[in-house]
Amino acid sequence: MSNSQIAYQKCISPSCGKTYDIQQVLVACPQCGELLDVRYNWDKGAPPTSWKDIEKNWAHRDNKLNFSGVWRFRSLFPFAPDEKIVTLGEGQTLLQQANEVAKYVGMNADNLHLQYEGMNPSGSFKDNGMTAAFTHAHMVGAKRAACASTGNTSASLAMYCSVTQLMKAVIFIGTGKISYGKLSQALDYGALTLQISGDFDDAMVRVKEVTRDMDIYLVNSVNPFRLEGQKSIMFRVLEALRWEVPDWIVVPGGNLGNSSAFGKAFYELKQLGLIDKVPRLAVINASGADTLDQLYNRQGVRWNDGNPQRDVIKAFYDKMDAEGLKASTLASAIEINRPVNLIKCLRALDFCNGVVRQVTDQEIMDAKSRVGSGGIGCEPASAASVAGAKLLREEGVIAPSDKVVCILTGHLLKDPTATVAYHSTDQDTFNEVLGSRGVRRATFANRSITVKNELDDIVQAIQLYG
Ligand code: F0G
Repeated sequence: MSNSQIAYQKCISPSCGKTYDIQQVLVACPQCGELLDVRYNWDKGAPPTSWKDIEKNWAHRDNKLNFSGVWRFRSLFPFAPDEKIVTLGEGQTLLQQANEVAKYVGMNADNLHLQYEGMNPSGSFKDNGMTAAFTHAHMVGAKRAACASTGNTSASLAMYCSVTQLMKAVIFIGTGKISYGKLSQALDYGALTLQISGDFDDAMVRVKEVTRDMDIYLVNSVNPFRLEGQKSIMFRVLEALRWEVPDWIVVPGGNLGNSSAFGKAFYELKQLGLIDKVPRLAVINASGADTLDQLYNRQGVRWNDGNPQRDVIKAFYDKMDAEGLKASTLASAIEINRPVNLIKCLRALDFCNGVVRQVTDQEIMDAKSRVGSGGIGCEPASAASVAGAKLLREEGVIAPSDKVVCILTGHLLKDPTATVAYHSTDQDTFNEVLGSRGVRRATFANRSITVKNELDDIVQAIQLYG
């Protein structure tokens, strides 16, 4: 049975539900405009019936598809023939038990885990999705691929293009909205980088127009194949927990691709009988980019069996436009006011009995420093998950004895400016980078010590502070 007979695309709106071949390049349903899923006729394929089926791949990791932390789970998203799969060894990531961070969050020892996606080859979780979208682009013979980005998507796309030379990368970024850590990757990997006036939301609108008009393959998370790859983050979490489902998955919310992919992953695993329990999902916005929190908690918008309150969502966006409101947070990766996967995320929240919260930049920076000192470091947006878990603990929504997995989406070195400013002794640096965003204190600052270049002074400093 070929992959195109097993996999197909389907509109997520139950009242439409139109299906499309996987060879079609679509980022929305041509019939009704809603997002699309990649779906599988499991009865026509050979889905895994136990985790042991999947684990067998690990014994053959000389095959690079089985080495990949994404593609060794490919029987759970069988849309690509093996010979078309493009892999750069993505997904070698770690589920880390983080007891120091657990203390900070208010969890019992051993119950907080950090899924560190910064270990991916381009330094963020994006590679999980990019390998899948890039593979689909290759399957359909694309020669150019594009994305709008706050930095990580562009770094990932540019990397897949530069290593494989299969496509040329075109990236759209907003002015002044990208950290050097991420911009440097796209530039070094040779991507055509278009810096447009406006922010990520503006860039997203433009890239959709350009890719449609110029027949360029779009790899943002409106692309349903991206999310198939991102499901593997959950497969690795389960694998690391020896297939025991945790109580909570906590994830930062920006364009809402991850949360949507995670919900789909658990839905499908349940359908296949590989899990019998579904974890609860917590999606965490930054306060300066809180569309999901506003719509979900204040306006009561829900998936509602595929009929979310579209009039409420439209009125919310219209008001945002009328007031000229723009997203604003230090967590630049999630500085997004118009999440393209909103509807899919509502579906995930529904299936996973989810909750949504927002956290301030102060809470994000404090949580980030705790992750740095008690786990592997992360970029500000990633720390929203830990700050969110702490808030939910304080509210009593998460119990200290729950098993919690926070997703750390990107590497510490992606945004060193915020980190250095937080620990800096120089008030001007602090104010410029953090104070301007409403961060008042570096609660857990680890100050550097200035010492004379004299042996005695250095020895004394170590004795005093070490
Ligand atoms: N964390 C990091 C480090 C990110 O780069 C992003 C998104 C998110 C979280 C949000 O994830 O969209 O799945 O809710 N960054 C995109 C980019 C927008 O262009 O790199 P989401």
